[in-house]
Amino acid sequence: MSAPRRLLVTSALPYVNGHIHIGHLVEYLQTDIWVRFQRLVGNQCAYICADDTHGTATMIRARQESRSEADIIREMSKAHQDDFAAFDIRFDHYGSTDSASNRTLVGEFWSALRASGRVAEKEVTQLYDPKAGTFLADRFVRGTCPKCGAADQPGDNCDKCSATYAPTDLKDAVSTLSGAKPELRSAKHYFVRLELFRAFLETWVHSGTLQPEIAKWLQNTFLTDELRDWDVSRPAPYFGFEIPDAPGNYFYVWLDAPIGYIAATKDWCDAQRDDVARWWKDPACEVHHFIGKDIAYFHTLFWPAMLSATAYSLPKQVHIHGFLTVDGEKMSKSKGTFVRARTYLDHLDPAFLRYFYASKLTQKAEDLDLNLEEFAAKVNSDLVGKVVNLASRTARFIPAIAAAYPDDGGLFAAGAAESAAIAQAYDDGDFNQAMRRVMALADRANEYVEHVAPWALKKAAATDPAAATRLENACTVALNLFRQLAVYLAPVLPRLAEQAGTLLGAPITAWSDAQRPLTGHAIGNFARMLDRVDPAKVAAMVAASAQAEPAAPAKVPAATTSTAVPITVPAHEVELTVPLEEVEAETDSQALREEPLAETIDFAAFSQVDLRVAEVLTAEDVPKAKKIIKLTLGLGGSERRVVFAGIKSAYKPEQLVGRLIVFVANLEPRKMSFGISEGMALAAGLGEQDIFLLSPDSGAKPGMRIH
Ligand code: MSP
Ligand code: ZN
Repeated sequence: MSAPRRLLVTSALPYVNGHIHIGHLVEYLQTDIWVRFQRLVGNQCAYICADDTHGTATMIRARQESRSEADIIREMSKAHQDDFAAFDIRFDHYGSTDSASNRTLVGEFWSALRASGRVAEKEVTQLYDPKAGTFLADRFVRGTCPKCGAADQPGDNCDKCSATYAPTDLKDAVSTLSGAKPELRSAKHYFVRLELFRAFLETWVHSGTLQPEIAKWLQNTFLTDELRDWDVSRPAPYFGFEIPDAPGNYFYVWLDAPIGYIAATKDWCDAQRDDVARWWKDPACEVHHFIGKDIAYFHTLFWPAMLSATAYSLPKQVHIHGFLTVDGEKMSKSKGTFVRARTYLDHLDPAFLRYFYASKLTQKAEDLDLNLEEFAAKVNSDLVGKVVNLASRTARFIPAIAAAYPDDGGLFAAGAAESAAIAQAYDDGDFNQAMRRVMALADRANEYVEHVAPWALKKAAATDPAAATRLENACTVALNLFRQLAVYLAPVLPRLAEQAGTLLGAPITAWSDAQRPLTGHAIGNFARMLDRVDPAKVAAMVAASAQAEPAAPAKVPAATTSTAVPITVPAHEVELTVPLEEVEAETDSQALREEPLAETIDFAAFSQVDLRVAEVLTAEDVPKAKKIIKLTLGLGGSERRVVFAGIKSAYKPEQLVGRLIVFVANLEPRKMSFGISEGMALAAGLGEQDIFLLSPDSGAKPGMRIH
């Protein structure tokens, strides 16, 4: 390995409102494994996390439970830290976004944004709960669906007919906080003008910091249009930091949360007389964020934009993982697959989950499935059957490892030669590949043990010195191969590595411990290392989860613990669901492979989309926007619609006038800085050059519905 690297590593800051569950653990285990690997190869690494404390949900819970926010934060922080520790997730520091250092830093960022002219003030009209005395995010409003009439539907889309709408369209809307009828009120909000960071972001997104599919998604979904201003303030009452130069207004939780990464690092540095600048302002230190795909937008557009206004380092890499499903489905409370960390620990060994997630994680932001049968089978066959068995079948037969390492047919050397490839896989975040390579070595080690059959030599060894030597050699090889595997698995299974160290009287402290066999070491007592996964315990865990209380307090909305996977775009907390898969399509031959067919929908869902033949009446360049052409579409008679289409890279305006296209006529109008887009022109393909507008066969007339 080359000169040691200095790494500042973070996992996303879990919301204070919910308990840690097995979905979260994908991320914290992924990060912990990566950090442990980096340390083992000799890199200097700080692993920093904190609770994400601010926002309406915390404020509401404090009111409902008649206690202070600080009290809730204390309790939840302890619960989170206990859960993480039980899974052997070792942070260097676990802080809180509600800290003095964070308040100071947020002020620093704010001044920098203000000073560079990137803050705008605008009136925002929102629903307001007069009884609770607070503005309401969409998810705090429920009512009757304006489309199908289903009662008690969420504020943004209908669970019954999947219509999407504004909370103001709901009939008989009520606030979920107080039951009151919400009213419209407007208030001043502060916005970060993200479009002013365009030049920076366009370079940064493609700088190799992001997985290619994420860069493509950002490019195609956001950077094609003018970037929307980001609403970063909330009027009182709100639990958060008051904006220093705008009393009565508070920083929106997503502004102060990522700054919490730096604040937590600072608190850690202060406690040990280190300097936070060494981690956050020194180009020699790499910043690595690990996050889930649901919060990619915040970390890949807002956060780098904010950092770019300051002297703090931009992330070297943002590692984005997918979402956990259990038995192929979203985690579900009713099915008992929404399993809290605590409930898991009541039934199963954390090592099982560490190994299973490691075996599933790759560099891709793809979802991963915890199939409970596969989980038991894989852990039992790999960890118990292939790894631990090597030691348990040999350690009792000899008092000490032979003084000289015997001829093993090149097995140990072959294992040592895998070191670089396994290390590379870990460093790349391709733990699946690392585990496969390790298990291939384990297979070879087991073949060896089967072949030499130490248990058969044991009897003869008592009387026959030649047999005794063969037994000593066989066990020396097996135990050294076991130890080599334990080194390679140490980031994933730290306890196993410790047990291996104790058994052979030589603690595992470095990746290079896999390079040289041990000789002449006394063998300690063999203690049980790992039990098999008992399927009955898995079933008991599921049963216990089905009965458990919801992970979040009843009235606080599910957003904090939901396993749904929206890509969240905060515009007054409006959530647009932009499936990541949608933008991953490559070119024609790969199209289906890259973008698998979507789930079946019923005819009713399809027929909600009003598709029409439309004629392009006028087409004009929008000079301000790099990718947009303004189209006026005729729908027959005097019906006209204006749309802004992101097709400039593939069409010239003059090519378009007069042609017929396919048009989504009932899409909610979308406000853009250059005007309102009243629908959408349909095109195939997603690459910049690969845009193909659709058109009907000749004979079709403008306005015809497409069924
Ligand atoms: N508080 C924000 C993060 C702020 S970072 C400045 C947040 N918190 S969270 O508690 O909802 O999620 C914490 C992390 O866990 C996120 O990265 C999220 O993607 C991840 N996961 C939460 N549920 C998950 C699954 N079901 N599967 C995989 N990861 C999941 O977001
Ligand atoms: Zn409906």
